[in-house]
This record gives sequence, C-alpha cells and structure tokens, in this order.
Amino acid sequence: MDRKEREKDLQTYKVSRTADLESIRDNFPITRSQIYMNHAAVSPCPNYVRNAILKHLEDWSNMTPAFVSLTPFGGEGPGQGNTSGVKESFATLVHCDPREIALVPNTHLGLSTAVLALAIKKGKNVILGDPVVEHPNYLAQYLEGQGIEVRFVKRRDQRIQTEDVERLIDDNTALVFLSYVEYSQGAKNDIRAISELAHRHGAFTLVDAFQAIGALDVDLKELDVDLMATGTYKWIMGIKGTGFLYVRNSLIPEMKPVIFGWANGPYYDSYTKAENGWLNGLHLSASRLEAGSMSIIGFTAAKAAIDYLLAIGMARVEKGVLEIRDYLVARLSDANFNFNTPLKGDSSRSGIVNVKAKNAAEVVQKLRKKGIWISGGFQYLDGVRISPHFYNQPEEVDKLVDELKMEI
Ligand SMILES: Cc1ncc(COP(=O)(O)O)c(C=O)c1O
Repeated sequence: MDRKEREKDLQTYKVSRTADLESIRDNFPITRSQIYMNHAAVSPCPNYVRNAILKHLEDWSNMTPAFVSLTPFGGEGPGQGNTSGVKESFATLVHCDPREIALVPNTHLGLSTAVLALAIKKGKNVILGDPVVEHPNYLAQYLEGQGIEVRFVKRRDQRIQTEDVERLIDDNTALVFLSYVEYSQGAKNDIRAISELAHRHGAFTLVDAFQAIGALDVDLKELDVDLMATGTYKWIMGIKGTGFLYVRNSLIPEMKPVIFGWANGPYYDSYTKAENGWLNGLHLSASRLEAGSMSIIGFTAAKAAIDYLLAIGMARVEKGVLEIRDYLVARLSDANFNFNTPLKGDSSRSGIVNVKAKNAAEVVQKLRKKGIWISGGFQYLDGVRISPHFYNQPEEVDKLVDELKMEI
C-alpha cells in the first residue's frame, strides 16, 4: 500500500471510529476535558462505577436489604456475604468457573497467596521473569531462603521468549511465574506455549494478567494457566483495593492457605463439620484462600466495571484497544519515533505502546500540564508509555503525537 492509500485508510478509520464511540464516551467524564491514555497505570472513574458506589453508600446509610445481603456479619449469608455476583461476572470475563475465583485486595497479594499456598518443597526450582520495578525480587529472595532455586528468564527483544524458558526448565521445576503483558513495553508473552511447556515438565504456571484483563479478551482455559491474579484499577476500570486470584479447579484441593481467618472455611452452620481436621474445614472452592472481610464497596465497584465491559462485549473492547494502538503506532512511525515496544508481528500486541525518550519523565510532566496523561521515566525503559483504552479517539492520538513531536 502506498503512502497516499494508507493515509486514506487511516482517515476512513478515524471517521467510522469517531461515530461509533460518540455515546460510549458519555460514560467517561474525563473525555470532556482531558486526553487520558494512562490506563496501564490507573484508570479514571467511569460514570457507571461512580453511580454504583453512590448507590452502595445510599444503601449502606440506610442499611437496606440490598446492603445487608452484601455484607458478612451484617447479613445472614455465609462466606464473604453476597459477593458471588462479582465472582460470576469476573469468571464470565475470563472464561472460568466462579468457584475457581478468590477475592484478593490487590494483584501482588493474589500472586503471593498463590505461591505460598503451593507449598513448594525445598530442592525444587522456580522460573521467574527477571525483576523489574513492578516486580522486585522480594519473592525470589523469600523462595531462595526456603531452599528453592530461582531461575530468572530474561526478556529478549523486549519479550519473554518461549525457547529461553525451555532452556531453563526441567522436571524439578515446580512453577513458572510470568506476566501475560509486560507492564513497561507492552509485549504480550506466549503464555499458552509456555503453559504447555511447563505442563510437559510437571510444573504449574502462575500469570500476572493485570496489564491484559479489561483490555484484551482473555480466555484462561485457552491459555491453559493454573493460577492467575489481577487487580481492577487499570484496564478493568474499577477501584484500588480489589483483585482476583484464579485457581484451576483441579488444583484447588492442593492449595494450602498460610494466611488464616474466618473466611477460609465454612460459616457457623457447617463449622462443626470441620472437626475432622482443618483441611476438611476449608472451602472446597478457591474461597479457601480468602482469610477475612473484603472491601464490599470495592467489589461493588468492580462488579459494575466488569458488567459494563461484558455489556459492550470483550471482543469489541479488544478490537477497539488494538485498533487505536495500531493507529497510534502508525502516527508515531510517520513521525520517526523509536519504539521500546516490539512491533514485529501481531501476536504480541496489547494496549501499551512505549516510545524511546531520554527526557521521558520531563515529557510526562509537560504533557500533564496540558491535560494529556501518559507515563514515562527510567522505570519504563527510558521511554514514555502510552496506554489508550477502547473509548479513546484518533483525534486524541493526533494531538498527543503533535505534542510528543515538540517535546522529544
Ligand atoms: C503487571 C502488574 N502487576 C502488578 C502491578 C501492581 O498491582 P497491585 O498494586 O494490584 O499489587 C502492576 C502495577 O503497575 C502491574 O503493572
């Protein structure tokens, strides 16, 4: 395709996307005054989440039946109260069974809970992505302290290469723990291939999917992972203090919680059945990894956020994210920027684009003063990280690129 034809294509895309998104953008008040392309960091609150929180506060203020049914101890329900709705919504989002979901307060607590509950034996080894700012090596140090060998797999061409995992893995590997989408450069790793490899060696896979879920149509069964954790304040567009841990059904009986409270097992009525030993007393679902009360307001918000994405349809959301990502890459390429994001092939695309910039932290601050939100700095490979969602418009990308041309 020559340059003229390509430009015509981009213009046609611009017109159709703008019309498509008109009513959707009313749900995102930020769009009225600012250009927000920082969803890989934290999302602004959409109206439907705000309304769900306000309704919840109203219900709580009046102790309505709707509130009481949601609240453990305030209500009659077992476990976390009636939070099963949010598990069902999340399970639909990622294609699993709600019984495979535990509520957690954030991604890293979900990930740590999973690693600890696997009770990996001394002498085994674990494969981890090499430490970066979002994943410092505290966990690696803990595992080494337990006599478990840690083998770091380094990113090559900005991505985890399956053959590098293959070189490190053996039949003594207990766990392979990686990100689905790399937080900084936005490369999507081939988790399905890595899971297959791990399973051939009898190892489990644990995936941090925070930079994927809500942007991409993630199917955990297709990825064939054993354990996965995410938060909700990025692409799902929920609030901080809420997350989900997925445990593959067949693995649930193996999971031995190490953090305890009333929520790990059956509630009062069936409590006596636990007499035969604490293990029998644990929930037979992933809820066994929940120790105590969770943020009901947070999960009310998370449910509203997820239900909105489900109503739009994750296939449409993913298409919207990847199309605006491609449009952004096209405009940045026209302007001769250099990328930290690998651009070869389609299989590693995500909602994140990272452009090299020596003065990245400064650029971010300058743009913020103009109402444009992106991330950047040393922790982003000396680049600026741009992360638009499905509701962003091509015109916003054009403005952003014009600003970047002046500042980088
Ligand atoms: C991939 C990834 N995982 C985890 C986190 C941190 O999540 P949390 O605060 O929910 O533990 C981040 C935050 O930026 C992230 O990018």
